[in-house]
Amino acid sequence: MAKFNVIVTDHLAEEGYDILRADPEVELDLRPGIKNDELKKILGNYDAVITRSGTDVDEDLLSDTGKLKIVGRAGVGLDNVDIETASRKGLIVMNAPTGNTIAAVELSMGMILAAARKIPAADTSLRAGEWDRKRFMGVQLHNKVLGIVGLGRIGGNVAARCKAFGMKVHVYDPYIKRERAEGLGVKLCQSLEELLSIADVLTLHTPLTNETKKMIGREQIALMKDGAILVNCARGGLMDEQAVVDAVNSGKLFSAATDVFEEEPPTGSPLTKTENLFVTPHIGANTEEGQKGVAVIICEQVLNALHGRPYQYAVNKPFEKEQLSSDMQKFFDVSESLGRMAAQLTIGKVQEVRVIMAGKRFEEDLGEKSFDTPFNFQPFTIALAKGFMETYLHNPVSYINAPYLAQDRGMMLNETKTDEYSRSRLRDHIIVIVKTDLGEVRYAATVFADGVGRIVRIADFHLDLIAKGIYLYFKNHDTPGIVGKVGTLLGEHGVNIVNFALTRLHSRGSEAVSFVLVDEPIPQIVIDKLYQFEGIIEAKAIKL
Ligand code: NAD
Ligand code: MLT
Repeated sequence: MAKFNVIVTDHLAEEGYDILRADPEVELDLRPGIKNDELKKILGNYDAVITRSGTDVDEDLLSDTGKLKIVGRAGVGLDNVDIETASRKGLIVMNAPTGNTIAAVELSMGMILAAARKIPAADTSLRAGEWDRKRFMGVQLHNKVLGIVGLGRIGGNVAARCKAFGMKVHVYDPYIKRERAEGLGVKLCQSLEELLSIADVLTLHTPLTNETKKMIGREQIALMKDGAILVNCARGGLMDEQAVVDAVNSGKLFSAATDVFEEEPPTGSPLTKTENLFVTPHIGANTEEGQKGVAVIICEQVLNALHGRPYQYAVNKPFEKEQLSSDMQKFFDVSESLGRMAAQLTIGKVQEVRVIMAGKRFEEDLGEKSFDTPFNFQPFTIALAKGFMETYLHNPVSYINAPYLAQDRGMMLNETKTDEYSRSRLRDHIIVIVKTDLGEVRYAATVFADGVGRIVRIADFHLDLIAKGIYLYFKNHDTPGIVGKVGTLLGEHGVNIVNFALTRLHSRGSEAVSFVLVDEPIPQIVIDKLYQFEGIIEAKAIKL
């Protein structure tokens, strides 16, 4: 019997289907063009859904996800996927960002050339029996300024090609490092306005996000040079369509070209009826190579994720534990345990969970910026959040939904890095400060040279607890005889002690805490009886 049910709701290249069919554990259901109403009824029966842009994976479709685990997008753009809703449901959202890059780059080059030389209009005119060479006076690209908005995969490749045309390339992208621009030999502008004022040809290569929506409107076009060219092969919605039409009609823009529309197909859009505005039906990715590329990538990655193998391109989970070094995996595990410990010891309403990665080891960024999601945490913070939230919720908590679940419960999750503590007795450690309405408590964990993760601080107590297993925790006024009584009590209830860690805050007579590592689950009666011992302040069973 097949283990995984996979539905494909758009047309993919055959090479993708072949990969899915070759997996004996997959039952494949090809339903290209299926309407959302119908899909909604059956979606929960599948482990993975693979789509292109034809299916709106929105909140309504995701209302009952059943056994669904993965949403795969054969392509780059995820504007048809509600990533936040999918993440809250713990679904992995993945795309195939590299498969069609060159296809989109080459269409962008075609559109830049078409717009500069009005090639499509010249073709139409000649076919209509005209021989009008005067009307098709173009502009040269050589020595002109190309303005690129968004220096990602496509923007970067367009830059390289336009440089070969002798263009001077300037870019605006607030999210890239200066070295990337320098490496590509292009000039980085400080603002979009600066780029608009110098570009002879402006080409858009950003995703559609709240920030980029209508980023080119009337105001921005007014800042452009008279007679400039505007090209959009990225996403409909990046520019105000009517403003572009008006600018082309008025001659403010020499011409424009777009492959993408706010509404697709663009029925009745003025963009398709304007002279010197050249349009194509969202074919940027439509090359044999591009389609094969995205289909193969997404099908392989979906299978990897289903089988529990390492996978790439999960946009709402910007790291993969298995891809961390074995050292870092140990810090990842101890972070999750620290989250569990902290949550189980927390009293009061949690307001903030602040994670501090202390030490040189954490200097490097191990995650990538998630695709238009509100969280951009390092793996250790996500692991800690998962451990922490599991204590509060019965619903499944995953590395994907943990930050959302924390946010939903009004807990602010924060992350900082520091090497301030590197001179302390611990070189690298993870600290968490839990702030509640009752105050703040600090916890810390590390991995020692023996490779074992240990919790080393709980409030003001310094300890050395193996970060795995079941603990009996109790706090008491430090008086003689308590340890013996607790040992006997556990023995009477058949609970075997592995390790008994006791520490006290100050001098004799102050408060002491104990963590007793045991082999068996601790019956509630043990906790109840413990509270009857004189001097006990608090007692709990803790599972790490
Ligand atoms: P990418 O993620 O590699 O690059 C996007 C770049 O945009 C990043 O460098 C990012 O920092 C930058 N960016 C984000 N917000 C910005 C902002 N406010 N201002 C300036 N820059 C900003 O993506 P990519 O693979 O290069 O794809 C680029 C676009 O092309 C996407 O919208 C994608 O969906 C689209 N695309 C279209 C087609 C098509 O068929 N026409 C094909 C492939 C990709
Ligand atoms: C993409 O985002 O990959 C392209 O726009 C192509 C597509 O939508 O299939």
